[in-house]
Amino acid sequence: MKQKIIRSDSVAGDLNDLLFSLSYNGLFLLTDENTQKYCFPLIQSVPEMASAKAFFIPAGDGNKNIASLSKVWEFLSQNSANRKSLLINLGGGMLTDLGGFAAATFKRGIRFINIPTTLLGAVDAAVGGKTGVNFNGLKNEIGAFAPALAVVIDSGFFKTLDVPNLLSGYAEMLKHALLDSPLSLDKILHFDWDTIDYQQLNNLLFESVLVKERIVEEDPTEQGIRKALNLGHTFGHAFESLSYELKRPVLHGYAVAWGVVCELYLSFVKLGFDRNILMQITRFVKENYGAFAFDCTQYQRIYELMQHDKKNESGLINFSLLKSVGNIEINQTASRQEIGEALDYFYS
Ligand code: GLY
Repeated sequence: MKQKIIRSDSVAGDLNDLLFSLSYNGLFLLTDENTQKYCFPLIQSVPEMASAKAFFIPAGDGNKNIASLSKVWEFLSQNSANRKSLLINLGGGMLTDLGGFAAATFKRGIRFINIPTTLLGAVDAAVGGKTGVNFNGLKNEIGAFAPALAVVIDSGFFKTLDVPNLLSGYAEMLKHALLDSPLSLDKILHFDWDTIDYQQLNNLLFESVLVKERIVEEDPTEQGIRKALNLGHTFGHAFESLSYELKRPVLHGYAVAWGVVCELYLSFVKLGFDRNILMQITRFVKENYGAFAFDCTQYQRIYELMQHDKKNESGLINFSLLKSVGNIEINQTASRQEIGEALDYFYS
């Protein structure tokens, strides 16, 4: 099922038009404590919202769990939601993942609309139909593929984000550009972070979302080419987990940006990826994202974390690499030594 992606300059107006075009029985709104306070006012004026039943959950990925999910089910049930009801998820990736899963499972599935409020959420989580919650200490362990009926993206929400949170989303845009074309990559590498032009950022974001949408349409349930979207994430998830273990948590996109460099190094060694582009991206990442401070005594731990990655098959660590920009090779693997060399490269 194709998702409708709405590029919006006025979320209230576009949401109003969208709701007007739909027929539903019962409108529900899910927010978290932050988006309730800071983002809901932007859609409050939509006449249909006056009848919406609203519920909010605590913010933060730690609350993306069965307990919160169960509260959302309870709320829907107690307010007589039915198969024709519509749920609006207003928030970042945590909220749209959880709300999407609540909708996908309530009465075997009700329709939902995602309105992402972070750049990371807009470029990744809200689009593509992956929904779910964390379970047993594992991220997104329980979930379902369930596309939103529509995703309304308004960059107005991003103006309140600080630069690290913008850069976090931008790392996924860098990844999409690498999967797409040299032209996309060039645009991403030349965005001026000193004087942020939100209109330009919005243009880049929208192009980036379309790259993801194209890949997801081809392979919605990740049997093959959708794995391309994992570029940077095998190392990235290990960096992210290590950062939590060391009690120095980093934003997801930072870990992904570092992961992209390591995985492009593997692409260079194993698939002949262009050395100059590798160096250009390494410079870009180091300048904008710095590097996570750890030493080679932690290499073994990173390797162990990678071995537990749920993308692995037949006990081999799975990577999505590039032969060149836009030329993807999924289901690649690398030895312990090659992984160490990639870390050495990043830290040299
Ligand atoms: N975040 C990667 C995907 O949606 O497949």
